[in-house]
Amino acid sequence: MPPLLGCAEPLEGAHVSILRIYYRVIALLAPEKGLVILLALANLSLASVFFLEPWLFGRVVDSLASTDRTNAWRYIAWWAGVGFAGVAASVMVSLHSDRLAHRRRLAVIAQFFEHSIGLPLSFHGQHHTGRLLRIMHTGSSNLFSLWLGFFRDHLTTLLAILVMIPLAMRMNWKLALLMILLMVSFAVFNAIAVRRTHKAQGQVEQLHHQISERVGDVFGNVMVVQSFSRVSAEVAEIKNLVRRVLTAQYPVLRGWAWLSVANRAASTLTIIAIFTLGTALNSRGEVSVGQIVSFVGFAMMLIGRLEQFAGFISGLFFQTHSLNDFFAVLDTPAVLQEQPGAPDLPDDIRGEVVFDDVSFGYDASHPALKHLSFRIPAGGTAAIVGPTGAGKTTALSLLYRAYDPSEGRITIDGIDIRSVSLHSLREHIAVVFQDPGLFYRSIADNLRVGKPDATDEEIRAAAQAAEAHNFVVVKPEGYATLVAERGRSLSGGERQRLAIARAMLKDAPILILDEATSALDNATEARIQRALNRLTENRTTFVIAHRLSTVRNADVILVLKDGELVEQGRYDELVARGGLFAELEGQGRFVADAEDEHEESEAEEPA
Ligand SMILES: Nc1ncnc2c1ncn2[C@@H]1O[C@H](COP(=O)(O)OP(=O)(O)O)[C@@H](O)[C@H]1O
Ligand SMILES: [Mg+2]
Repeated sequence: MPPLLGCAEPLEGAHVSILRIYYRVIALLAPEKGLVILLALANLSLASVFFLEPWLFGRVVDSLASTDRTNAWRYIAWWAGVGFAGVAASVMVSLHSDRLAHRRRLAVIAQFFEHSIGLPLSFHGQHHTGRLLRIMHTGSSNLFSLWLGFFRDHLTTLLAILVMIPLAMRMNWKLALLMILLMVSFAVFNAIAVRRTHKAQGQVEQLHHQISERVGDVFGNVMVVQSFSRVSAEVAEIKNLVRRVLTAQYPVLRGWAWLSVANRAASTLTIIAIFTLGTALNSRGEVSVGQIVSFVGFAMMLIGRLEQFAGFISGLFFQTHSLNDFFAVLDTPAVLQEQPGAPDLPDDIRGEVVFDDVSFGYDASHPALKHLSFRIPAGGTAAIVGPTGAGKTTALSLLYRAYDPSEGRITIDGIDIRSVSLHSLREHIAVVFQDPGLFYRSIADNLRVGKPDATDEEIRAAAQAAEAHNFVVVKPEGYATLVAERGRSLSGGERQRLAIARAMLKDAPILILDEATSALDNATEARIQRALNRLTENRTTFVIAHRLSTVRNADVILVLKDGELVEQGRYDELVARGGLFAELEGQGRFVADAEDEHEESEAEEPA
């Protein structure tokens, strides 16, 4: 970690980014432009009050000192008018700025959520949910406080300064210069503090993210942590991170403490200097007592405002990094280059799928798929086999565009899947994932993910077909039973059966079954198999399979090894060829059906 004064980041760098971020923060208010302008005008009137009051103060003192008191009355009447206009403006500001800030915060949370769940899987692979949640929460609360500050203080301060400087210059340029000196020193002190602590604060922010990631990760794996008796070790890790945050944070705080001392000193010196210079000028008849009073009033007000402004700058400084992270997520391109105005995939597709020389790698150096080419006729079934890690899941994930191939193309009915809208493509493909992700919702709601408007009857029918109904009805609340996070309250087989029911409800023309029945016992699997066979009729189906009957009946078997398609053909051809498939077959890698093992007769499997 760099020492407090050791950071050589260019001054402009930190400043420009702070200003640019502030601009973006305010730009997020654009949807309520009208109200924002109204509030800005109210602020303008408040600002006028701020500089008119000390000026009137000076005039009243001077009028009292003169023989004619009528002027004094006039100024007092003015003061009353100005004061009440100020009250009205501040009521307007405080009433509406709060509501506006709350409204925009919630809108921005929704926007962040919508955007980030649409982001490609590669993004989510790099961002732990713990980190994303923190970015969302910290980012939106920082925006909230900046918006409020903008309406309550910043704008007024800026306008007050802009208006007061020319006015003060007119009254007495010597005293005015003193005040400008005060402002410049505030600006310089702030710039120095930002420059010297910017990088260190970035590290603090990163460490905070790490804490969130780690906490989120441990919460998600509580079972592992407890069973490996890692509780104290995990706590120690967090405490270690906390210590590192403090070690990184203290120098930053020290820098900003020095800043406030410097600011205070500058203020005190300015007031003393104004009195000293004012006294000297007064004895030479260059300023009146009232003008000195006005200037001290200006200076006091300016100091108050500048201190507030310095507070705002430091607040903004501490928030820059988290706002940067927030905007970085919003700036991540929403989808894998969806062509603007891409048409939908027609509803009546037949479902012929062609992979044409498709290559893909999660990272550039290690291709996961190399030059895959195959064609599955509409309504056909492809069985994909191969050792674990061969790229089976990856190959199929390209079909629903979890990722795009680095080379080659994939077509459905001759239409390049990259030329149609992502939404319509995914509407046409139902997937039973290898790891059946379930939501922390009721069983019924989990199934409705497949078909949002499914009736209770449909849900029940799908669950029955997937052999899930029987275990669901014995749960305490049946279909209303809450499923724990990631389905942890269900057995592996129960999760898979819900995942199958969910895909059945989706009723899409293309079906992907990624080891969909791997966690089931042979008898249950055989029973589901009948429903699956019915489901796959007239649907283009990809099965990553370990069942003999599936492989035997497939229209084409694709044999993958190390990301390459080493063999393809029908069962008999491949066995006869004596290649990798024959080898896997010979090793007994494909499980025989339950009927072969003398299971109950209902487990029979239609060939
Ligand atoms: N999200 C990912 N990021 C990086 N590498 C991955 C990712 N998913 C899978 N892989 C790697 O890609 C290869 C193929 O994985 P996968 O398609 O899941 O194999 P299979 O389904 O055939 O068992 C493996 O080496 C795996 O480690
Ligand atoms: Mg897999």
